[in-house]
Amino acid sequence: MEKQRYLVLTHPSKTAFGDFQTPLELARAVCGLIAQTGFDPASILEPTCGIGTFLQAALETFPNARRVLGFELNPHYVSQAQHVYAKIRSQARVEIHQANFFLTDWQALIATLSEPMLVIGNPPWVTNSALSTLNSANTPVKANLDHLRGIDALTGKSNFDISEWMLRKNLEWLDGKHGMLAVLCKTTVARKVLAYAWQRGMRIASASLYHFDSRAYFGVAVDACLLLVHSHPAGNSQQCAVFSTLQTHYPARVFGWQDGVIVADLALYQKWRALFGTGLKGWRSGIKHDSSQLFELRVEHGKLINGLGEVVDLEPDVLFPLLKSSDLAARRQPRLWMVVPQQTMSDDPSRLQVDAPKTWHYLTTHADLLDKRKSSIYKNRPRFSIFGVGSYSFAPWKIAISGLYKNSNLLGYHLTKGVRWFLMILAISFRATLKRSAISCTNS
Ligand SMILES: C[S@@+](CC[C@H](N)C(=O)[O-])C[C@H]1O[C@@H](n2cnc3c(N)ncnc32)[C@H](O)[C@@H]1O
Repeated sequence: MEKQRYLVLTHPSKTAFGDFQTPLELARAVCGLIAQTGFDPASILEPTCGIGTFLQAALETFPNARRVLGFELNPHYVSQAQHVYAKIRSQARVEIHQANFFLTDWQALIATLSEPMLVIGNPPWVTNSALSTLNSANTPVKANLDHLRGIDALTGKSNFDISEWMLRKNLEWLDGKHGMLAVLCKTTVARKVLAYAWQRGMRIASASLYHFDSRAYFGVAVDACLLLVHSHPAGNSQQCAVFSTLQTHYPARVFGWQDGVIVADLALYQKWRALFGTGLKGWRSGIKHDSSQLFELRVEHGKLINGLGEVVDLEPDVLFPLLKSSDLAARRQPRLWMVVPQQTMSDDPSRLQVDAPKTWHYLTTHADLLDKRKSSIYKNRPRFSIFGVGSYSFAPWKIAISGLYKNSNLLGYHLTKGVRWFLMILAISFRATLKRSAISCTNS
């Protein structure tokens, strides 16, 4: 790799303009990839061209282009680029102008360009909130990108990269035309911009995303990519192939727009799509019983033992495997059994006198401990009641979230007919009440 000539930018005004000039070798690699797709542009446009490296690489790669246009805000860069192009021999009409992206009448200009049209470049990598910290006016009219409410603005949802705004415009210009967008940007921005286009049914023939090492080329640790979007009047693709590097030939995965959402891996989604459903009514906090000594049993030498060390003999119908938060985190099978004396909150445990007499005897023998349970939720409830039980407790599938650990793991537990497991569902909840009750059941 030729020694890098990236700029490491710390000067506030450079930061405000997202000023990372692309090294020529990277611009050439990008143009090479475009050429490999067979795309041969008649006109080339770079809306924020800087010193014009991309235009130079494009002129070298696409000799059939008849018109090449570059625009840039910084007048020094404009003269630098003009100087370079004065020396390049080309059949194309090359023009570099000083212009502010946000104040340019792009529609009028685009109407004059022949197809196929290539919009290429590396728009500024800076967020609107960084700009407001810098007191910079380098933003679109203070438009709210997605008409977000004040609360979303406060929580940062309304923060966006100004490149995102520019790339949305680029795709709008190309919609219904034979063209290509080829840009370097943050990977998050690429995904958002594609989602924007897919959601609006823009006519896209294909899209691909190539990761590249932004530290090597620009000296910044940002998850960055080359986004290629091929537009065509008949295009109706809503997928994007993801390549791990600019040199990779086979995509690692394909993401896309499906069932009204952006799906990270379409192949995996197809495999598991049957599980997709609506109707989740909300998270449950799991059963609360406040007496692990009596309700939670371990198995030793084939016998059930309670927390007091007593051997316990109960009807199987009241016993359910108990999956603790710590089991979930350690990917363990349930190690304990739970006594569940009620099927619903309105169920009276006294029915056990008939349905499960050994269990009723067990509970009444330890009534002194159970009657002392402090929580107010047991007041005015039938004796030996538990809390947080209902038909959902016995559902064949559950999604359980253990919110007490740093690492994220995804597990699926299927409760088969023969083996009835009871899963403590520990929902991460922003509501302290839910969290408290869940933790009190799972302090293992
Ligand atoms: C990331 S640099 C890339 C420059 C060039 N496209 C390249 O690839 O080397 C972004 C460029 O956008 C320019 N720029 C920033 N805000 C702009 C605006 N509002 N209108 C036009 N150009 C702008 C900056 O001056 C800078 O040259």
